[in-house]
Amino acid sequence: MYKIDRENLFLRLQKSRKRRTSSEYEIHDQIIIFAALNTSMKFSEEIKRRRTFGIISHPDAGKTTLTEKLLLFGGAIQEAGAVKSNKIKKGATSDFMEIERQRGISVATSVLAFEYKKNKINILDTPGHKDFAEDTFRTLTAVDSVIVVIDVAKGVEEQTEKLVEVCRMRNIPMIVFINKLDREGKDAFELLDEIEQKLNLTVTPLSFPIGMGYDFKGIYNIWEQNVNLFTGDPRKDIEETVEISNLESKELDDLIGEKAADTLRDELELVHGVYPDFDKEAYLAGNLQPVFFGSALNNFGVRELLDCFITIAPPPRPKDSDIRKVNPSEDNFTGFVFKIHANMDPKHRDRLAFIKIVSGKFERNKPYLHVRHNKKLKFSSPNAFFAERKEIVDVSYPGDIVGLHDTGNFKIGDTLTEGEELRYKGIPSFSPEHFRYINNADPMKSKQLEKGIDQLMDEGVAQLFTLELNGRKVIGTVGALQFEVIQYRLEHEYGAKCTYENLNVHKACWVEPKDPKSEEFKDFKRVKSKFLAIDKRGQLVFLADSAFSLQMAQQKYPDVKFHFTSEF
Ligand code: G4P
Repeated sequence: MYKIDRENLFLRLQKSRKRRTSSEYEIHDQIIIFAALNTSMKFSEEIKRRRTFGIISHPDAGKTTLTEKLLLFGGAIQEAGAVKSNKIKKGATSDFMEIERQRGISVATSVLAFEYKKNKINILDTPGHKDFAEDTFRTLTAVDSVIVVIDVAKGVEEQTEKLVEVCRMRNIPMIVFINKLDREGKDAFELLDEIEQKLNLTVTPLSFPIGMGYDFKGIYNIWEQNVNLFTGDPRKDIEETVEISNLESKELDDLIGEKAADTLRDELELVHGVYPDFDKEAYLAGNLQPVFFGSALNNFGVRELLDCFITIAPPPRPKDSDIRKVNPSEDNFTGFVFKIHANMDPKHRDRLAFIKIVSGKFERNKPYLHVRHNKKLKFSSPNAFFAERKEIVDVSYPGDIVGLHDTGNFKIGDTLTEGEELRYKGIPSFSPEHFRYINNADPMKSKQLEKGIDQLMDEGVAQLFTLELNGRKVIGTVGALQFEVIQYRLEHEYGAKCTYENLNVHKACWVEPKDPKSEEFKDFKRVKSKFLAIDKRGQLVFLADSAFSLQMAQQKYPDVKFHFTSEF
């Protein structure tokens, strides 16, 4: 349990008696405003006005609610309730049937695009259920920034920790939104402290709550320097905002009461003294995380978040490939597959591959190189996604996501270009948490089984490892439920039957020897032969049966490196 240590905070305040003038916050004007949204808009302007991001949170923190309110502001939907929750509702008949149902919904919510103040905003859905974690990690390779939602009462939860860690590793710019301020929750400073410690972030509050729960009066918007009064009326689009340029003014006392005003002044002094100033470069480099407070359900604090977001969040960013860094403004189109959605209709083997455009324009019917297959492909009906519909588009720009109908050509991580042979990096696999042998239960259908397993793995449903010793196949998943889903889909989509057998694996580690020809590595391969497997890319994996055996192997073979992700 976290305890707020105000003394410590005051010490920090003493150390960094930095004061900011109010004008320092007036960097609003940096917002990129573009003249007109017409067809003649220049390519570079199209890039600059795009914001492609993901919202990450632990289930139930309010991701769906926040998404919905953002769409309402963008005018993309007319009423709340239009975005279906992508999570598994408690008490559903069967979690597994729910996953099947959710697969249907998740095509619709995979990408939600809308226009807001001349920006084109693409929200990429990051499924909330824990069994979808791997899918979520991959989606994070396609975002340019994220918003992290935290429940004011629950604070930092497990899923948030995992997801933020991935973002931190990739230096993805993050804004934190602390939600449900209309409810009783943790003290704001306590939460900021918890975020810094558990998530290893450096925060800078850009808004601050006035009271909480029953006493919640509103928010002081540090970024815009005004007070937003909380009415608790979710139907109101925009809460009452009162400009307060001088915090010492009597107006503040009149507005929220003397006591609350004094507390706010003290707290803001603490905020200014303790936390670093907002610095856009530091935020963009992933070294500083602005924090907002609000209540998504009540539509409170959401507009402030969105306005700040479009101002500071990055447009599409350059991306590393195996041979060079690619800039969004380059003329030639490049993009990569970060998600595949397959077989919604079992009668038609159709799959939708989601491509993030990294550079250049993607044009309908133009031939593009599928780098892994060294094959040119044309797409006659690329889909673009909007809040409630998808439609065929002729041209898409960097930052956008297009959905391409696929008959089995793509797998996650594939790169498309105009001819250049480059491959995008950054779609790692993580060690699964559950492992089972998969056996063929119908010898007449072994081809179907193989094909089914192959395609489901391309889709990223689970990972396949083939044991070196005897060629047996092992499936690794993030959640135990995925085994049922795989079994069901193999039967219904491929006509194949499988059974599972338990296998005790603590962790899958990707193996990197310093010298593949060394005696040490040969000895490792001989001694551990029972535990070695090959993944889908042909990389060697050590399936350690316990934390102890992993530790022993690490000690005994210092020149062999054990990685917890497939990318090292
Ligand atoms: P998720 O996508 O992150 O899983 O969360 P979701 O938006 O579905 O929100 C989880 C629950 O929290 C929902 O209640 C939602 O109404 C509630 N919630 C979201 N934002 C706020 C807020 O600002 N204040 C309060 N008090 N509640 C909030 P539910 O009862 O689980 O679902 P529902 O029946 O309302 O859909």
